Amino acid sequence: MNEELIGPNLSFFDLSSRESLFFPEDALEGLLVNEKWLSSKFFYDQNGSDLFQKITELPEYYLTKAEIEILGDNLDEISELAGEDSVLIEFGSGPSLKSRMLLKAIKPSIYMPLDISKAYLLETSKSLASEFSSLEIKAICVDYTRPFRLPFTLDKKRVGCFLGSSLGNFNKHNALSFLRQTKKHLGDDGALLLGVDMKKSKKILDKAYNDSAGITARFNLNILNHVNKLCAAKFDPSNFSHLAGYDEGLGCVQMHLVSEFEQKIKVLNTEIEISKGEKIHTEDSYKYSPSEIESLALKAGFSRSVSWFDEKGYFGLFYFS
Ligand code: AVJ
Repeated sequence: MNEELIGPNLSFFDLSSRESLFFPEDALEGLLVNEKWLSSKFFYDQNGSDLFQKITELPEYYLTKAEIEILGDNLDEISELAGEDSVLIEFGSGPSLKSRMLLKAIKPSIYMPLDISKAYLLETSKSLASEFSSLEIKAICVDYTRPFRLPFTLDKKRVGCFLGSSLGNFNKHNALSFLRQTKKHLGDDGALLLGVDMKKSKKILDKAYNDSAGITARFNLNILNHVNKLCAAKFDPSNFSHLAGYDEGLGCVQMHLVSEFEQKIKVLNTEIEISKGEKIHTEDSYKYSPSEIESLALKAGFSRSVSWFDEKGYFGLFYFS
């Protein structure tokens, strides 16, 4: 682990000694099996993060707007629950309006953004550090989907936040492990602010992941550019098409890339064969009912829950303690 002092109120901890937390072997692993898949974390290279930002602004993609609406309507209550002199630990550091809203309302003593992307984390923390000059920021570069330890002990109350329905990317088993690990990180008196997309009609969900401007398609296809860079591979994204839809039985939106024809692609010196119409699974985005997410949090060790919804009831924000 190395710690770097970036500015008077910003330090940067790197929990790995590696240049990048994206492992080429992780991408290859899913391409060698019958039902091909790529982890959704490969979406987020610089270009993918920019495309995701564009997605959040699309009229069809209601999630971010609904969550901002909920935050805006309930900041007083949230900051009351969080209390004073807390540590705000954010899983996935958005460049976002949402973090700023929370920082202004909760006024924590310490802000700890956790993110897998070093460059992105550094950039967002630097701008927050200059904007909130009296806030102490400890940025931690880590893949929080895997087990890890926080690099120091904290004697203040810890409030975690995991927004944007990112929990949806975990299957139910991994979502529970994540919540259990998070509960441990937050401690006995800690709390978690969790933003979750709610179950709703297939029509609305299908539109949210098949926008008319085609940005979600570009986001999905861009995963191949990232794999190309990472694995010295030569996927041509234009030889694939975007497929996304809500599976009501599974309660999740699945995204795939469909091969337009038979192709052979070298990935890390291994030749991958893909037949015409074959699909590469790139994302699961699970949707929850309020009682499903509450019972999952209960299983993970939280005992109290407060929840808020947007006007339409599309999105939920839960405060578990
Ligand atoms: C960032 C995982 C919450 O599942 O809605 C957006 C990613 N994928 N459009 C989601 C995403 C396609 C997003 N999460």
